[in-house]
Amino acid sequence: MTERKKITLRTLFSKVTNGEQITMLTCYDYPTAHFQEQAGIHMILVGDSLGMTMLGYETTLPVTMDDMIRHSQAVRRGTPNAWLIGDMPYMSYQPSVESAIRNAGRFMAEADCDAIKLEGGAEMADRMAGIVDAGIPAMGHLGLTPQSVSALGGFRVQGKGALQAKKIMDDAKALEEAGAFSILLEMVPDRVCKLITERAENCFIISLGSGPDAHGQLLIYHDMFGLYPRFKPRMAKVFGDAGQVILAGLKQYAQEVIDHTFPQPENWFSMPDDEYDELLKLLD
Ligand code: KIV
Repeated sequence: MTERKKITLRTLFSKVTNGEQITMLTCYDYPTAHFQEQAGIHMILVGDSLGMTMLGYETTLPVTMDDMIRHSQAVRRGTPNAWLIGDMPYMSYQPSVESAIRNAGRFMAEADCDAIKLEGGAEMADRMAGIVDAGIPAMGHLGLTPQSVSALGGFRVQGKGALQAKKIMDDAKALEEAGAFSILLEMVPDRVCKLITERAENCFIISLGSGPDAHGQLLIYHDMFGLYPRFKPRMAKVFGDAGQVILAGLKQYAQEVIDHTFPQPENWFSMPDDEYDELLKLLD
């Protein structure tokens, strides 16, 4: 097992200063976190996308704080050193600044997260500021924000028109001024992402389907490995078709059980002959 130093905000900002890219992935469970730790991923997001990828909901809206805490704890056990971000689920921060601070605090106290992420722009700046003032590093999320998928008209690119792009740029400034250490841009045109990245002064920008010019990249783990059966977003490069490998293995298992070719002696445990004879005597 490879050991690495704990990633801190200082580590992340020094990468930005040195022009090095930041790597970020979603993760929802212990074994995947273990692999991501071994691969040296810098930032890990326990996204509320787990509602879709792990729990099979149609959207992220039914996900609760308790769901998020349980998965974040499992991920932390697998990755002691990544910068771990808990994603604030639907209605855990929208109602008030107080609800935002309390629920952000749960990620830190109960799941040992390093930071939280919340969706929304200027209208969420007071929640962002409240959380940051409470001493909790917070990341913003603009562009396609899945918790507002109904209002946004579906999972589609945001900011293609000049006015909408300007609004996203203004929202990014508002979040930065509220103290966000980073902003995720999801499905925003590459040129808009570049402008926001160039203008970021006290925070760094992560791109999810928003082009190559941000300070780092994020992908949804399940999209990378063909593990989400409902759809494959255009922005997700498949780095390995684990879904097909797993399916082939499952079919082979079923066939071998039916054919009596599984299990083989190496897959079971035997008993010494004398003990077995003794057992038979005990049964007489
Ligand atoms: O929940 C999540 O995984 C996210 C990503 C879509 C960025 O918020």
